[in-house]
This record gives sequence, C-alpha cells and structure tokens, in this order.
Amino acid sequence: MKILVTGGAGYIGSVVVEQLIAGGHQVVVFDNFYQGHRAAIHPEARCVEGNLNNRSALRQVFENDTIEAVMHFASYTLVGESMQKPFMYIGDNVTNGLNLLQEALAHGVRRFILSSTANLFDRPAKIPISEEEAIVPGSPYGESKYLLERILSWLDRTLGLRYAALRYFNAAGASENYGEDHEPETHLIPLVLKVALGKRSHIEIFGDDYPTPDGTCIRDYIHVIDLAQAHILALEALDRGSRVYNLGNGQGFSVRQVIDVARNITGRPIPERVGPRRPGDPAVLIASSEKIRQELGWQPKHPSLESIIQSAWQWHLRNPNGYEN
Ligand code: UFG
Repeated sequence: MKILVTGGAGYIGSVVVEQLIAGGHQVVVFDNFYQGHRAAIHPEARCVEGNLNNRSALRQVFENDTIEAVMHFASYTLVGESMQKPFMYIGDNVTNGLNLLQEALAHGVRRFILSSTANLFDRPAKIPISEEEAIVPGSPYGESKYLLERILSWLDRTLGLRYAALRYFNAAGASENYGEDHEPETHLIPLVLKVALGKRSHIEIFGDDYPTPDGTCIRDYIHVIDLAQAHILALEALDRGSRVYNLGNGQGFSVRQVIDVARNITGRPIPERVGPRRPGDPAVLIASSEKIRQELGWQPKHPSLESIIQSAWQWHLRNPNGYEN
C-alpha cells in the first residue's frame, strides 16, 4: 500500500515508517519539522515538508500520490503545555486533523489511523484501563484526541471511513536507527538517560506523595517497536471495520522504579531530587490491551522495562546529541 504518514519524522512516526517500509509498503512522510528531524526520515520514504493547516499543500500530496491509507501522528502532544495553551491544542490538533480527513476523503482515501492517548482516562474507575472505561480527558490535549475520535466515528457512519484509534500509554525505547529526541525534552526515560550521559545534573521526581507504594506516579511503558507493530496490524484489519484500542503492556512502573532500572542498565549515577507534583498527572495509568491481543493477535515482543530502557540507552549512546550530530 502507499501510505501517507503525517509526523513521520517524529519519534513514533519514524519507527512506524521504518516498519511499514520493511513490510513492503511505500511511504510518503508529511512533516513540518516542528518536533520532527530530517535525519529521522527513512531514506526510502518520500518526504513532503508542509503544515496541516495548509489545505492546498495537503491537496497536492493526494494529487501527486495515490494514497491508500493515512496514519496521523503529527500533533502537539504535551499534556502540561496544553494546560497553558488550550487553543493551540483544542484548536490546531482538531482543525489540522479535520483538514487531513477532508482531503483524504475527497481523494477517496477511506483508511485512517489516529494516534490517540491514555490522557482520555484522567480518573479511571478500574485499573488496568480497558476500552470500556469512561472517557474523562485529563487536559486540552486529551480532549483534542477525544474530539478527533468522535469525528472519526461520525465519518465512519456517514462517509464509510474505516479508522483505528490507538490510545498509547507511555511510548518508550528505540529501534536501532530511530529514537526519542524532543526539544525541549519532557519525558521521563530520555531525561533520566541524559542524566546518565552527564548532560543533565539530576532528574527531578514530580511528586512523591501520590497514593502509590513508593509515592511516585505509576505508568505503563510500551516499547515503540511494539507500538509500531500494532499500527501494522490495525492497518491490515481496517477493511473488516473501524476499531479503538488501548495500547500498553498491562504492567505499571513507578518513577522511582524507572530510575532504578536505568541505574542498573547504564551503570552510571543518576542523582534524583524530589520536586512538586506536575499539574495534570494522574497517579496510576496502566492499560488493558486484552482487546487488541484477542482481536488482532498483537503480542509485545519487548514487554520488559529493562529491554525498553536498554534499547533507549543504546540509541542515546550512539546519538548522544540526538539527531543533531
Ligand atoms: N516525570 C518526572 N520527572 C520528569 C519527567 C516525568 O517525575 O522530569 C514523571 C511524570 O510526572 C509522570 C512520569 O514521569 O508520572 C511519566 O512522565 P512522561 O512525561 O514521560 O509521560 P506522561 O505520562 O506524562 O505522558 C505520556 C505521553 C503523553 C500522553 C500521556 C498519557 O507523553 O503524550 O502519557 O497519559 F498523553
């Protein structure tokens, strides 16, 4: 298939592009390089630089290439930032997604995969969190993804769009060639590894007074390669109907456990300091991924936190300055 990947120069997008190409697909990457990196684009992908708010640039993509499916990664993705800049999230994430959907459907493309988020579940009644859990977005970011999920379900009913919404929990780790490099970096694992590399003095723990065994937040870390595999399976299943899945390993680790595993793997000191809570952080987020396991046979190949952090560490050792080498 020929697949348009928005945000294909970003962290998760680049790993999915790599797997799509390995699987024999053709890929067109559409990216504005706001967070993406040119060096993160697979050499066999065709790259179009552009903004999703530019309808004519988008139209051009669908006119130049016979696109058969769209994977939509390009987005603002930070929970905390969205609390400061709600219009940027609820506005741009939603209107950009709408532009993309309108152009895709106008050009006959009826397969669409959306990067959604665990931030739909701010106050889960049950852990692990299944697809039955009530949706309570935790931030304008989560709300923007929920609005897109709702829009997709209407486009399915009205225009025959077949979509998958994949709600990522905490994507982490790296493939051999592509890893996590944000500016500024806000995510726990790359920050911890930057401390191990000597590029930062310490890691700040955002609160140790949560109702968890060691007082720090618990998250479900999923290897970016396993996440990418779920996209391929979802793509193959789209013609059998639209679907929504929660994606994690079903196991939670506290911030302190992550730091300890990183100390063991790197063998380097990782000083920590406890700071205040970060607004918007729920205490515990763990996914149930039973649905995608049962329906699509998804099976994570790298479920252990050790293998996730090990792969990220190897990538950071090879790319100590990220993509800007
Ligand atoms: N944390 C720290 N110190 C840091 C950075 C993070 O203690 O310097 C903690 C956070 O408080 C949180 C955990 O480490 O408890 C993980 O934080 P991340 O920033 O790595 O990830 P989040 O869980 O906040 O966010 C991720 C994705 C979002 C998604 C969200 C769903 O990055 O896109 O999961 O809840 F929306």
